[in-house]
Amino acid sequence: MAVRRVGSEERLTTSFPLSAYAFEPSPLSAARTAEFPRYLPYNEGNRTLIVEEDGTLAAASAIPMRQNLRGAVLPMAGVAGVASHPLARRQGHVRTLLHQLLDEMRDDGHPLTALYPFRPSFYAKFGYVGLPKPRTATFSPADLGPLLRADLPGEVGWERIGTGYPAWREFTERCLRERHGFAAFPDYRDVGLRDRDERWLLTARVDGVVTGAVTYRIDDHAGELAADDLLADDPLARALLLQFFARHIDQVERISVQVAADELPELWLTDLAVHVEARVARPNSSAPMARLLSMDALAGLPAGPGRVRVELTGDRWLAGTYLMDGSTGSLELLSGTAAGGPVPDATLTAAGLSALAYGVLDPAEVPLRGLGEVPVDAAAELRRIFSRQVPYLFADF
Ligand SMILES: CC(C)(COP(=O)(O)OP(=O)(O)OC[C@H]1O[C@@H](n2cnc3c(N)ncnc32)[C@H](O)[C@@H]1OP(=O)(O)O)[C@@H](O)C(=O)NCCC(=O)NCCS
Repeated sequence: MAVRRVGSEERLTTSFPLSAYAFEPSPLSAARTAEFPRYLPYNEGNRTLIVEEDGTLAAASAIPMRQNLRGAVLPMAGVAGVASHPLARRQGHVRTLLHQLLDEMRDDGHPLTALYPFRPSFYAKFGYVGLPKPRTATFSPADLGPLLRADLPGEVGWERIGTGYPAWREFTERCLRERHGFAAFPDYRDVGLRDRDERWLLTARVDGVVTGAVTYRIDDHAGELAADDLLADDPLARALLLQFFARHIDQVERISVQVAADELPELWLTDLAVHVEARVARPNSSAPMARLLSMDALAGLPAGPGRVRVELTGDRWLAGTYLMDGSTGSLELLSGTAAGGPVPDATLTAAGLSALAYGVLDPAEVPLRGLGEVPVDAAAELRRIFSRQVPYLFADF
């Protein structure tokens, strides 16, 4: 049995068939298999590892992405295409692959990793912790009526994503720099959106500068205008986008739009009857998960004035003892013996520390979730260092 990296056309006979069996209707038609070569360019820079012995027994890939962690844009390994052969499951192949894949991505400079789990507890064993799922807000275009008469200082741009893609990419790159948790694909993968050309692109512009953007499609007359993530710099940008949607009052019955977990659509307008939902289910409607792969991710992040000594336990990538000091306003880490002195102590698993770094758990929740031991004095320091935040992963893979 051997673990091996595959690239380019080799994917057609190794990882692609395994992924197709795991994630698509099957058996595959010859026509479907004939489509595989079209996906190669969008996978070209991925790191794909397989386990093989008389054929491919398991496969896993990592996409070299970037993610914003508390304002710092860092390389992030987006894990995807994890699957094993039905006759080779529960034999440890995927565990072997994930360990090697994350070792290699970490050595290659990716201090963060994220994924969409089929079952969170499976990836919790690998130190991942849950992030919030975006909400879907659904409402009638009729309730946007008051916006039709609003005189808003700006305009919208409307085109197919196939032509508007450069503006979209530029705007999402800006969101990457500005929004905690936001992740972006590498170019070779991202252009799939442009090449499929299956969406409209709507942009809000003020003085020629894009301040908001959303992609969408309409399924039918009297049907649904289904928008993807509504990205807006400010309330004016959002109002410009919604004003355009209001023009579909007699065309579609409903509008649905994805929003960040901390967005409050019920406050957008008076008399807006809106249903806001996040449905999390196994195996295919998951909330994302993420983790730190290297303590380097934390050094220099904006932090509040706390000091705590943290022992990281039971982890392949983060084990060690660190003094965390946020007193200068940016996080300093001292490791090993330098971490002495009278400061409170906490013990954290990788998922526990990742939860604090991503801002998704309060230190008092960490022991309740079995992710460490955090005495009250250490919790107070950790709470000062790592404020709660709502990460918005955005990229779906
Ligand atoms: C899920 C899947 C990838 C697991 O692969 P595998 O090779 O059987 O996994 P491993 O044998 O390496 O299992 C690693 C650990 O997870 C456990 N595990 C495996 N499948 C599990 C499952 N469905 N639920 C919970 N735990 C599971 C194993 O018991 C093992 O635990 P241990 O470390 O305590 O011994 C495989 O069943 C599969 O291809 N499923 C269909 C596609 C899919 O869902 N992929 C995941 C997309 S995110």
